[in-house]
Amino acid sequence: MAASPAGLNVPPQRLRLRRPDDWHVHLRDGALLELVAPATARSFARAIVMPNLSPPITTVAAAVAYGARIRAALPEDSGFTPLLTAYLTDTIDPAEIERGHGEGVFTACKLYPAHATTNAAAGVTDLARIEAVLAAMERIGMPLLIHGEVTDADIDIFDREAVFIERHLAPLLARYPGLKVVLEHITTAESVAFVRQAGPNLAATITPHHLHINRNAMFQGGLRPDFYCLPVAKRERHRLALRQAATSGEPCFFLGTDSAPHPRSAKESACGCAGIYNAPFALESYAAVFEQEGALDRLEAFASLHGPAFYGLPVNDGHITLVREPHTVPPRLHGSTLVPFHAGQVLPWRLADDG
Ligand code: NCD
Ligand code: ZN
Repeated sequence: MAASPAGLNVPPQRLRLRRPDDWHVHLRDGALLELVAPATARSFARAIVMPNLSPPITTVAAAVAYGARIRAALPEDSGFTPLLTAYLTDTIDPAEIERGHGEGVFTACKLYPAHATTNAAAGVTDLARIEAVLAAMERIGMPLLIHGEVTDADIDIFDREAVFIERHLAPLLARYPGLKVVLEHITTAESVAFVRQAGPNLAATITPHHLHINRNAMFQGGLRPDFYCLPVAKRERHRLALRQAATSGEPCFFLGTDSAPHPRSAKESACGCAGIYNAPFALESYAAVFEQEGALDRLEAFASLHGPAFYGLPVNDGHITLVREPHTVPPRLHGSTLVPFHAGQVLPWRLADDG
């Protein structure tokens, strides 16, 4: 894949990859959807689209309508397929979930512990309340996607993911051994170790921002809301563990951007929203990490192969090309409404427009 002249230690100038997918993205709705959906469709053939709209997507009809709005926000020839998800609540109807999966509308279900993050107020208060739906998902092979953080106020925010694994994830996997689970946007060395030792039914996505920043980024010279997301970035040792995992070639780790745009007015506020908007240069961002780790030859597996294998979907037909063409990420996008991840920074790789 990497075209470097034999015998010369020249870094590759072009990388051709099978077209990748984003296994965790927030495409939003309304005017914001129109702005951000093209950025995801530019790089990715498919994306697992989060259901935390207001109100959340809990029915097949709502998902079908949302899918239509996503397609309407894109050019007809975009070739992009949104993979929709159902938002689990305490009172979700297992029959509705099963029907949605059977009809090919719901690819997976999303579990937000109640109040864990943006638009998670309607999330699940106790896993015991959704036993029927979890059993149905296990039976029909429908993946469960987890925002893995406890919400207890007495647990330090930097420990919430590790505590979730102990208290909730390990017992859940023991109770539903056949259930496919994705621990989303992992941020800690503990999560890396846990996912590694679990069986083939557990996988994890890793975001670009958790590979690039540690918690200091939020406080660099002042309060930096653009680096605030959930789960919050952790210490440097965790970032290093995530980089090692993402670039290891292990099939249990794959790409999920968690691109989560909020308008600047909502980020730069006395109570700013969590979320980093990385969709415009997500692939370029991952490529920078893989190059720094000497693992460009493993980028394709992480971005394009491991996710489909876990979900039991075919890999994409097409290919994309990344070219070495250092470029500066714009400090603002869409009339200053959104701040992209890497704002003002130079990224070494650029996605070729002609794919
Ligand atoms: C997400 C959002 O804004 O929808 N925020 C974030 O920080 N990632 C919600 C989420 O996935 O936590
Ligand atoms: Zn998310």
